[in-house]
Amino acid sequence: NSNKNLEGKTVLITAGPTYEAIDPVRFIGNHSSGKMGFSIAEEAANRGAKVILISGPSSEKSNHQNIELHRVTSAKEMFAKVFEYYENTDIAIASAAVADYAPKEIAQEKIKKNDDSLTIELVKNPDILKTMGERKTKQFLVGFALETQNEEENAKGKLQKKNLDMIVLNSLRDEGAGFKGATNKIKIITESSLTEFALKSKEDVAKDLLNFIEEQISK
Ligand code: PMT
Repeated sequence: NSNKNLEGKTVLITAGPTYEAIDPVRFIGNHSSGKMGFSIAEEAANRGAKVILISGPSSEKSNHQNIELHRVTSAKEMFAKVFEYYENTDIAIASAAVADYAPKEIAQEKIKKNDDSLTIELVKNPDILKTMGERKTKQFLVGFALETQNEEENAKGKLQKKNLDMIVLNSLRDEGAGFKGATNKIKIITESSLTEFALKSKEDVAKDLLNFIEEQISK
């Protein structure tokens, strides 16, 4: 029962977490499962889009014929893959939970537990979404914001700082929203509007999100 409104459009979606290696056996990661991004990809594909789905480590699967799935591990790999495709993208949706920092050096061998404390120096990762904002030509650019406090203010800040057309806010203060689970609760914020949605399955959140985008790009 999906419409075919995205026929002829290329939609680029980032999904999942990134893993930042510490040594050959350990990494810094986060709780993203990839479910939100894969749900958006599936729905966009159902609506006729050509979907480029770039995902960090996730057990989600996809075999939709309209979805070209690229699996990456780190933020730097995700960055490189995104910019292979960004130029020819009509709609870009960044739902990945990208690590903001990565270990400055990756130890070649497993770090031994010889000392009572261990310090790992972290350096900032490239901001993929911010760079998409800087390189924007024709793309309709959608970010996500995962917040725990001052949610709307922080999301609005990201909308402006990253040169987005809209941002999807989910808050860890809302039960059933955000990471891992099958549901999410979102607010969509544009420069001139704030729309609040009920708690629903990530599949239905994806539908709301794409309906909203379709309405925006048809204006
Ligand atoms: O995967 P699930 O378990 O289904 O969970 C879904 C989700 C909670 C991960 C998803 O709904 C979500 O909120 N994704 C964004 C998480 C996040 O990292 O938000 P942020 O506020 O830290 O980042 C803001 C935006 O910048 C995001 O669009 C993010 O993809 C992007 N970003 C951030 C840092 C970075 N280095 N590069 C980026 O592109």
